[in-house]
Amino acid sequence: MCGIVGFVGIDKASSVLLEGLSKLEYRGYDSAGVAVIDKDHINVIKCKGRLANLEKKLESHPLNGCVGIGHTRWATHGEPSDINAHPHSNADGTISVVHNGIIENYVELRNELKAKGYKFVSETDTEVIPQLIDYFYDGDLVDAVMKAASKLQGSYAIGVICSKEPGKLVAARKDSPLVVGVGKGEYFIASDIPALLNHTRDVYFLNDNEFVVMDNSGVKILDENKKEIKRDIYHVTWNANAAEKGGYDHFMAKEIHEQPKAIKDTMTSRIMKGKPVTLDNISLTKEQIDNIDKIYIVACGTAYHAGVVGKYAIEKLARIPVEVDVASEFRYREPIINKKTLMIIISQSGETADTLAALREAKAKGARVIAVTNVVGSTVSRETDDVLYTWAGPEIAVASTKAYVTQLIVMYTLALFFAQNKGTLSDSEIENLKAEMLTLPEKAEQVLENEDVVKDFASKNYAESDMFYIGRGLDYAVAMEGSLKLKEVSYIHSEAYAGGELKHGPIALIEKGTVVIAGATQQKLVEKMISNIKEVTTRGAKVLAFALEGSKEVKDVVDSVIYVPKVIDVFAPVLSVIPLQLLAYYMAIKKGCDVDKPRNLAKSVTVE
Ligand code: AGP
Repeated sequence: MCGIVGFVGIDKASSVLLEGLSKLEYRGYDSAGVAVIDKDHINVIKCKGRLANLEKKLESHPLNGCVGIGHTRWATHGEPSDINAHPHSNADGTISVVHNGIIENYVELRNELKAKGYKFVSETDTEVIPQLIDYFYDGDLVDAVMKAASKLQGSYAIGVICSKEPGKLVAARKDSPLVVGVGKGEYFIASDIPALLNHTRDVYFLNDNEFVVMDNSGVKILDENKKEIKRDIYHVTWNANAAEKGGYDHFMAKEIHEQPKAIKDTMTSRIMKGKPVTLDNISLTKEQIDNIDKIYIVACGTAYHAGVVGKYAIEKLARIPVEVDVASEFRYREPIINKKTLMIIISQSGETADTLAALREAKAKGARVIAVTNVVGSTVSRETDDVLYTWAGPEIAVASTKAYVTQLIVMYTLALFFAQNKGTLSDSEIENLKAEMLTLPEKAEQVLENEDVVKDFASKNYAESDMFYIGRGLDYAVAMEGSLKLKEVSYIHSEAYAGGELKHGPIALIEKGTVVIAGATQQKLVEKMISNIKEVTTRGAKVLAFALEGSKEVKDVVDSVIYVPKVIDVFAPVLSVIPLQLLAYYMAIKKGCDVDKPRNLAKSVTVE
């Protein structure tokens, strides 16, 4: 996820672009840059780090010109650096491009262009775009952008300028957001509305595979055949703050709703019908996998809970023994690590001190380490040879939501990859599991459509001071995450217990009216779970269950049920965690808590 802006007008472009980018920093902040046309050439200024660094650089290198593009980056391909920062240009610097999205076939395109003599300077997927436009350019920028776009697979919102057509800006979108702002004699593009609001409230929304051409005379929206499309102007009435959060009141709500897309993006090019499961550029041979005698998954907090699901998935599907550990415990318990150990580190931020220490410990003892992180260029990603990124985009709310579900997706991908290589599942079993995984984004959307049931439950129960979460198998793993979310954002005390463990002590705390959230998505365990639910209801507990659609037996023994779409047991956590995230969110809202910045917590825990 990155932010792009573009401007055509009479004011100095660089100031307008900078101001627009400042409203998009929530989309990425590891590097930034602008390109502005000055008479007959393009000047590009870009650098690693926050927008403030770019502002500083522009003070000493002021840019003239009224047409330009800008970018704030959330690195995906290539670490955050001056070279990898956008805009990217063709060799003679006559074409510059900013891009938000991922070009899936960039390696193929890069190789084709290299064979034609094109040279590449960055590690980004984006750099193929200006080079392709250059390849097709024959005096008409719109034609060249359209031809280049027809070669791109993946997602993109792009802004393009060309010094040979100095008054013009061309933009296009597919599967990445892009809006067009229409001011008085000035026109804009942006990834999101807040970047425009200081200049105009009149916008066009673009659809996939549409193109925009703007110059001093106005804006045209074109289809793929260059036919003009007439579109009604939308007048924005929200304030800038709400718009930055995509119309949601909080980042946490926005991020919960971004999960279907985050799940889809994280599966991209790894889980595909009819193709083997792949782990990006990680080379792990069958022999190396057969040689692994134990996997440790080490992480903290929510990432640890994703690791618990990872253990179930890897042991079930690939039959390799897995131990999951919280990082702060792992390093001090003298774990048995050798060259046959594989360690999987999970960290959204890639900067958590305890997780990093565990990584270093394992590396020093000769283990191979795979890092699962959401932040390209983070310390974890730099200190391991093998990295699998979760493509969740920046997570701003302290409570992790979309990072968790994408961590689950990576855990499933690893489990399937191991199973495929070890032969613990047949080809058709793997194909079925992949097909099921590919349905998860749509099913996650369906769960979000039932948000009101959770909201209603929250509004009736937010005054509780203690709650329990119970579940068996993977429902227990999800219960732990649900309980953590509730504590973090609503400050309600809660505990997660394995359903069968309750009667060994904690059941003493159940009394009339105690709220218990019970998971019952695991088909083989539903009967056992029903017995555990009855143990608490007979003692007066009020139970909200989460179960798979059609599971009527649960409904009969609880006060309310949230159904999630039917799914193979092992993937249920991706869907069942969503109501629990929403529950924590709505309980916190009703209590008036600061959900995005809960007390005493930090997004990245860099101390031991
Ligand atoms: C999650 O909601 C928490 N904020 C916290 O538990 C977090 O998951 C933990 O601190 C680990 O962070 P990391 O994934 O960045 O390493």
